[in-house]
Amino acid sequence: MRHIALVGMMGSGKSETGRRLALVFGRRFVDCDELVAAGAGCPIPEIFESEGEAGFRRRESEILAEVLASTEPSVLATGGGVVTVAANRALLAGAVVCWLRVRPEVLATRLGDSSGRPLLAGAEGDEALMARLRKLTVERDRWYDEVADVVLDTDELSARQAASALATRLSHLGGWMTGEGDVEDGGGERERGGTGGEHGTGPARIRVGLGKRSYDVLVGPGVRHLLARSLAAALPAVPRRVAVVTGDGIGVEVDLGETVGAVETFTIAAGERSKSLATVEDLCRRFARFGLTRGDAVVAVGGGLVTDVAGFAAAVYHRGVPVIFVPTTLLGQIDAAIGGKTGVNLPEGKNLVGAFWQPSLVLCDTEVLATLPAAEYRSGLGEMAKYHFLGGADSGAGDAAAMAELPLEQRIARCVTLKAEIVASDERESGRRMLLNYGHTLAHALEIAGGFGLRHGEAVAVGLVYAAEVAQRLGRIDGDRVAEHRQVVSAYGLPVSLPAGTEAGELIDLFGRDKKAVGDLTLVLDGPRGPEPVRGVDRVVLAEALEAIR
Ligand SMILES: NC(=O)c1ccc[n+]([C@@H]2O[C@H](COP(=O)([O-])OP(=O)(O)OC[C@H]3O[C@@H](n4cnc5c(N)ncnc54)[C@H](O)[C@@H]3O)[C@@H](O)[C@H]2O)c1
Repeated sequence: MRHIALVGMMGSGKSETGRRLALVFGRRFVDCDELVAAGAGCPIPEIFESEGEAGFRRRESEILAEVLASTEPSVLATGGGVVTVAANRALLAGAVVCWLRVRPEVLATRLGDSSGRPLLAGAEGDEALMARLRKLTVERDRWYDEVADVVLDTDELSARQAASALATRLSHLGGWMTGEGDVEDGGGERERGGTGGEHGTGPARIRVGLGKRSYDVLVGPGVRHLLARSLAAALPAVPRRVAVVTGDGIGVEVDLGETVGAVETFTIAAGERSKSLATVEDLCRRFARFGLTRGDAVVAVGGGLVTDVAGFAAAVYHRGVPVIFVPTTLLGQIDAAIGGKTGVNLPEGKNLVGAFWQPSLVLCDTEVLATLPAAEYRSGLGEMAKYHFLGGADSGAGDAAAMAELPLEQRIARCVTLKAEIVASDERESGRRMLLNYGHTLAHALEIAGGFGLRHGEAVAVGLVYAAEVAQRLGRIDGDRVAEHRQVVSAYGLPVSLPAGTEAGELIDLFGRDKKAVGDLTLVLDGPRGPEPVRGVDRVVLAEALEAIR
């Protein structure tokens, strides 16, 4: 895996952006200037004073070589002048380089004065500072341009926004994470421009940053064919045996080529009845007869049912075998296969037995959705509608309209990015992960009340509009935002109203039984900072909002 190096002028925000980007990708962050100062035992201006710029550059080159030689991939912020040395530019060719480009006028306002910046020393006063910055910019831009794989204009971006934009851009560059070929390998051009830049045409690669349990999610047409060649990078060792678990009637084949010694396919019956401990026992016994060990791997090919069951079997067999997911439903690709929740149902309730067991790789092949029955596709759309209202690091409230404009693949990648970011910040659902429950309180109540013939996604769709109506009554959002909820949900052809015959009292009683609704009446509700859990919502408000969606 390649290091991600940020280059750009002093004041372009490399350190702060780098720190945030490292969090997103679950990597360590390295500030080269800090390492140079620590190595010299004095601040950088003093190195310039005692050893001159040449001495500083020598130290900087040594640190850069050391950091880039490390096998632990990092996000590194380089010094502004690092590109002026040819040897450094050659070293940077091995990294994915992002140039944070800023106009000198903006730099001048950010830097304020020249203190602590040896190369600006003596440039007292606004005009002198501007002239020096312009000169340095002209000198260095061609070098930044030479080394950069991604160019991001950050004049109007905070570090948080820059990190978020870079994370999205980097996710769309093929091949770079594993170090297979050049960053253009995915078929895309070098990425340029501001936050709204075009994406390459290769698969999107999204990192779920969970430290040692981090993994990649690839989204795009045909990505299931990358399985064989991704094994080595995704797993601790290339397995001798692979157990492929799939479902009856799914019909999606994966090819492991010559990479592993033995492959056997295990099929489970379709339908929630198969999501049981009996199926897990049966699978584990068949794994044992196949000779599967902890050094091998399970590959689950199917919808949420298959990935939940096979993921749980992988979590418990031999106390944990690596698992790779190839989700074949829309719901699987944007939800079930990401985040490591695995499990089965009991007669007493859904998903009551399970484990957090993160996959080692997820391949969301958009081609396989072509054979998905329309009703299953529609069910996934309800979850997709939910993501319109969840923002990433850049905006807690999401940009519903912007997401609607994305083509399907990019929309799936956006949903995965949002889920990955939320999971990375709260793997075990002790807080923020609860946001993924947006729209689900009413949905679960409708499903439990039963008899309405609603699919899960349809119930979530109605639940989203309901949550907006409740939020408006609490003064958290205005009528336009409620209308936006209705608009997004209807644009997917999903219902915005309660099915006929629903009884408000029964539904509200069921809200309290929702195992994710902490305490009696806690709902995830939209607000100025986006959706968040709200405790103790008044029963009268809940009833009024139900009437508003009849
Ligand atoms: N682990 C999680 O975080 C999580 C999140 C959401 C849902 N889930 C679970 O996911 C399950 C629902 O998953 P689902 O909606 O993907 O349904 P599913 O897995 O039951 O699949 C639905 C149907 O589609 C068929 N199918 C799947 N892929 C196909 C394809 N490409 N072409 C043709 N047919 C195909 C299946 O055979 C099945 O009949 C539930 O059990 C739910 O609890 C888990």
